[in-house]
Amino acid sequence: MDSVKVRKKDGETVIQLLRSLNLLNTTYKIKQAGDFLILPLINSSEISAVLEDKELQYTFIDTDFELSDTRNRSLKEILSQVIPQDLLQYVPRSYDIVGSVIIIDLDDNILDHKFDIGLALQTIHPDIQTVYLKSEGVKGKFRLRTLELISGVDEPLTVDREFSLNIVVNVQTCYFSPRLSTEHRRVAEECTTSESILDMFSGVGPFSLHLASMYKNNVTAIDHNPKAIKCLKISITRNKLRGQIDAICMNAEEILTLNRLFDTIIMNHPSDSNRYLKVADSVLKLGGVIYYYTFVPVEDYELKAKEEFLSSLSNYSILYVHRVRQYSPSELHVVVKARKR
Ligand SMILES: C[S@@+](CC[C@H](N)C(=O)[O-])C[C@H]1O[C@@H](n2cnc3c(N)ncnc32)[C@H](O)[C@@H]1O
Repeated sequence: MDSVKVRKKDGETVIQLLRSLNLLNTTYKIKQAGDFLILPLINSSEISAVLEDKELQYTFIDTDFELSDTRNRSLKEILSQVIPQDLLQYVPRSYDIVGSVIIIDLDDNILDHKFDIGLALQTIHPDIQTVYLKSEGVKGKFRLRTLELISGVDEPLTVDREFSLNIVVNVQTCYFSPRLSTEHRRVAEECTTSESILDMFSGVGPFSLHLASMYKNNVTAIDHNPKAIKCLKISITRNKLRGQIDAICMNAEEILTLNRLFDTIIMNHPSDSNRYLKVADSVLKLGGVIYYYTFVPVEDYELKAKEEFLSSLSNYSILYVHRVRQYSPSELHVVVKARKR
């Protein structure tokens, strides 16, 4: 196989150069020979000029190489041998892993290579059984994505691990984002053992599961998606919980029928929480706390989030506004924590 022999002390520079030009063949392991490195090449024809320009010493040789460990290679590296070089710029750097499922979003320019990309992802992650392409953003009343199978078996039911909790998710019929794991934990850590808590848009129940795993308290989890509540009920049996979770399939507009008051209400339905602030207030104790999630423009996000909350409920003190994550180039997902006065 075509390869180039360079001095070890120049190795890093040459490797960087070859990588930037997509000329390093990452399917194979780099060899060491005394004070030299031998680098496997995709194509040797363009290299001389580049190395001479940098005044680097080199010799071309023809030798055999061992296969490299594919798990340590990036998606882009693997695809550099499969898809045209000018399309590599569209290969995404990140994707979601939920249990044994990968969900990836692709730029239109590389959609023709979706099956190669699915296979490459399974090469990097041998434990992944299913790769879905996310066709559009989350939408509809259950906040779901349209998913298309691009590699592996069509099995949307999986178990995600979040801080040693088992979270049962059907990625096709329920909302779940592994990007919120830190937020689920953070909020649970701020609560205390004596509180009664309402998880008002629970989905498959990550907030509720964290809370019940940490405290011996009572959590009421509601969601109007019956499939999400079904997953949560399975998760309740699959985790060692100290507290109790009542998982109820109902519309948040009907929470008055629960006939009880709460110390804390978590409202993570950022695209539409605002509509439910008044009904949440009606079941919150005086001195109780609301975690209100919303999407706001990046500029002046704290002020905008506070104004949005107070324009619905003016009898509250804002405790903080916390930035959860960048939702889109122009919007943030934030949480307002506020106390009822
Ligand atoms: C963004 S997801 C949040 C899920 C969960 N809290 C989490 O962090 O993963 C919003 C959830 O609100 C539920 N939802 C939307 N409108 C609702 C309503 N009126 N009543 C009850 N649940 C609702 C959706 O089904 C969805 O599961």
